Amino acid sequence: MLNLIIFGPPGSGKGTQSANIVEKYRLTHMSTGALLREEIEKETPLGKEAKKFIDKGLLVPDDLVLRELYHHVSDHMDASGFIFDGIPRTIVQAGSLDRFLNERGIPICLVISVEVEEEELFKRIMGRGEDSGRSDDSDQIARRRLEIYKELTMPLISYYKSQGKIVSINGMAPVNEVFKKICCAIDTYLHSKEVLPVVE
Ligand code: AP5
Repeated sequence: MLNLIIFGPPGSGKGTQSANIVEKYRLTHMSTGALLREEIEKETPLGKEAKKFIDKGLLVPDDLVLRELYHHVSDHMDASGFIFDGIPRTIVQAGSLDRFLNERGIPICLVISVEVEEEELFKRIMGRGEDSGRSDDSDQIARRRLEIYKELTMPLISYYKSQGKIVSINGMAPVNEVFKKICCAIDTYLHSKEVLPVVE
């Protein structure tokens, strides 16, 4: 099973690149942001609770996010692999996800870290905010999301470096060029493991 994490700050292109990766490598997309927004849309108890944090640019508590994620992963155990997008975001989440996947014999293979300069991130988030309808795409909230990323999520780079699983990708280039670099990293991993990718 090919299990990937796409990692990076808000606006770095995780969602955009996940869509491309899913199509090429036939993976199941696990985006915690999308799952939470779906719950908000449906006005479920989880959605109502999550909204309180998302609207302020804060992280939703670990236990709520992890429970929701594991529920969805368990529902898709027939998948040929997962791409985790927007999770993990804290050391607690990373440790928990590792335990959950390792116990099932389907560990994380590769962490793709997409790097984009700060001003470009804001430009992209503000651009998307014009028609996304996302409550957290305003200037002030986006700045708080980035602060939280630096404080709570960036330390995961060292966590995955120590596991030898992280590759850095320059995310400043156009979408298709970034995607080519990501494919190169994934294919290098697959060849090193002599696993044949399922591609169209
Ligand atoms: P989430 O939905 O995960 O948002 P995020 O991580 O802040 O990321 P974004 O969706 O803003 O950006 P992205 O990196 O996916 O970029 P995109 O492809 O959209 O989380 C939202 C909130 O939910 C969190 O703040 C938190 O409150 C909560 N949450 C979620 N997961 C959680 C967790 N695990 N724990 C706790 N709380 C959690 O691209 C952005 C824009 O740029 C688009 O318009 C796109 O078209 C454009 N673009 C993309 N690539 C390029 C490129 N190469 N060149 C030019 N433009 C580009």
